[in-house]
Amino acid sequence: MSAQLIDGKQIAAAIREEIKAEVEEMNAGTGKVPGLATVLVGTRKDSQTYVRMKKKACKKAGIASFGHDLPEDISQEELLKIVRELNANNDVHGILVQLPLPDHIDEETILGAINLEKDVDGFHPINIGRLSMKRREPLFVPCTPKGCIELLDRTGVEIEGKRAVVLGRSNIVGLPVAMLLLHRNATVSICHSRTNDLPGVVREADILVAAVGRAEMVRGDWVKPGVVVIDVGMNAIDDPTSERGYRLTGDVAFDEVKEVASAITPVPGGVGPMTIAMLLRNTTDSAKHYLKIV
Ligand code: GUN
Repeated sequence: MSAQLIDGKQIAAAIREEIKAEVEEMNAGTGKVPGLATVLVGTRKDSQTYVRMKKKACKKAGIASFGHDLPEDISQEELLKIVRELNANNDVHGILVQLPLPDHIDEETILGAINLEKDVDGFHPINIGRLSMKRREPLFVPCTPKGCIELLDRTGVEIEGKRAVVLGRSNIVGLPVAMLLLHRNATVSICHSRTNDLPGVVREADILVAAVGRAEMVRGDWVKPGVVVIDVGMNAIDDPTSERGYRLTGDVAFDEVKEVASAITPVPGGVGPMTIAMLLRNTTDSAKHYLKIV
C-alpha cells in the first residue's frame, strides 16, 4: 500500500476524549452538562442505527441525550410541537432531527423551526445560507462536511490553492463540503450524474471528496498520483464470504486507489466516526455558548 491511511476512528476517538474533558470541566464549574435531543421519525433501519450510535456517543462523553422516537405517521403539526418544546427546554443545547423525514412532512419547515442556537446539525436554512456566502459565519456547520475538513487538517493536508473535486451534490454532504473547501481557498468542482467526462474531472483533483452513494465507483485510473481521498460513501454490497452476507464499502475502489493516492480514508473507519465526533463538538460548543463559557 502506498497511500497513508487516514484513520478516522483514531482521530475521532482523540476528539471525543477532548470533548469528554471539556464536559467534565463544565460540570465541575457550573453543575451543567451539554444536552442533545435526537428526533427520529419512523422505523428506517439506517436512521435507527445512526441515532442509536449518536446517543451512545453522548453517554460516553458525559453529554445528556433526550430521545424522541416518533411514529412514521406523526403529523407535521405534532412534530413541530415537539421541536418547539425542545427549543424551550433549557437543558437541551442541541436538536437533531434525523433525515430523511417521511414524504408527508416538509423537511425545510421542520429544520427551519429549530432554534438557530440549537441547530447543531447546521441544516437550518439560515445556517446553510450563511455557509453559502462570503464572510457570513454560520453558527454551526453540518457534521459530516465538518468532519471531512477536520480529517484533512489533522492529517496536515494543505487545502489552500488546491484543486478539490467533490463527487455528489447532496444537501447533507456534497454541497456544504464544497462550500467549506471554497472558504479554505481551494478551487472546487462539484460533479454529479450529468457531468461530462467524470473520470477526467476527478483526475484533476488534488483533494477528492466522494459522496455519491455508488459502491466503488471511483477506480484506480480515475485519480491523479498523490491525490488525497476522503470517501464519504457507505454502501452495503453482497458478500457471501461474510457472516452477515454483505460488507460495507465506500464510493472509492479502495484497493485500486490506495496504490495511486498519497492518503485515503477507509470505509468503515474513516469519515463515519467523524460525523458523530463533530456532533458532540457542536453540541458542546452550543452548551458553552449558552452557559457563556468561552
Ligand atoms: N441523515 C444522514 N446524515 C445525517 C446527518 O448528519 N444528520 C441528520 N440529522 N440526518 C442525517
